[in-house]
Amino acid sequence: MNAKANFPGGINHAQTAPAFLSVWDLQSYYGESYIVQGISFNVHEGEILALLGRNGAGKTTTLRSIARMDDPQVQHGEIWLDHQPLHNMASHEAAIAGIGLVPEDRSIIPGLTVEENLQLAQIAPPIGWSLERIYDLFPRLAERRKQEGITLSGGEQQMLALARALARDIKVLLLDEPYEGLAPVIVDEIEKTLRIIKEQGITTIIVEQNAVRALELSDRAVILDTGNIVFDGTASEVLENEKLRSEYLAI
Ligand SMILES: Nc1ncnc2c1ncn2[C@@H]1O[C@H](COP(=O)(O)OP(=O)(O)OP(=O)(O)O)[C@@H](O)[C@H]1O
Ligand SMILES: [Mg+2]
Repeated sequence: MNAKANFPGGINHAQTAPAFLSVWDLQSYYGESYIVQGISFNVHEGEILALLGRNGAGKTTTLRSIARMDDPQVQHGEIWLDHQPLHNMASHEAAIAGIGLVPEDRSIIPGLTVEENLQLAQIAPPIGWSLERIYDLFPRLAERRKQEGITLSGGEQQMLALARALARDIKVLLLDEPYEGLAPVIVDEIEKTLRIIKEQGITTIIVEQNAVRALELSDRAVILDTGNIVFDGTASEVLENEKLRSEYLAI
């Protein structure tokens, strides 16, 4: 039996309980540059997975590949979400299937208020959380609903980016460095919010330079090194493994 036959999201998935999100032999390129070099991992429903590794390891590229962004080009591999193949979809189709990517730059739309940024996310179905529910979770955004989104503080912009993802009906939240540039007290606040989002049943992949903070939040971890997986296990295993921490995470 070849390895592929065992892949839960792949050919024989009728025989095995498929993982909620399965990435199989993903290979991604920017032009000729071979970046993600054939990685396979599973994410279980409702869990938080930390995707870690040094600068340039391929973390952002992996998230962008799962979200089916045009850049990078994914040349090979399968991505399955809740029995649905994503690997032939365009990014807008992956979004409809339930992928919510919060990019590193947060991509708040200039010229629009907080509320207009949220309304824009709800312009087409499938619509997710109501504005009321969003403002309940993010009271700071409720207070600033008429303020232009790009004038928010860094932490508030991160909250708006998260809120905008929830305004669509997502199954998986992909977070690229959500704590970047934020004071520890704001990181605490975002972390609390991510725990509440988890309680609502949403599955999350978090990419973070602040590996300890990400691991404390996460159930499991995958560590990348030059586009290959060097560890796949529980978050506490990484926290307890000094060799792994110093070799791949510099912590
Ligand atoms: N648009 C692009 N064109 C060409 N090469 C790219 C492009 N984006 C990223 N790369 C290269 O791909 C590799 C992986 O980049 P990626 O952004 O996925 O790393 P990362 O793990 O997210 O790093 P960081 O922690 O610094 O954000 C790097 O060598 C990077 O230079
Ligand atoms: Mg990155």
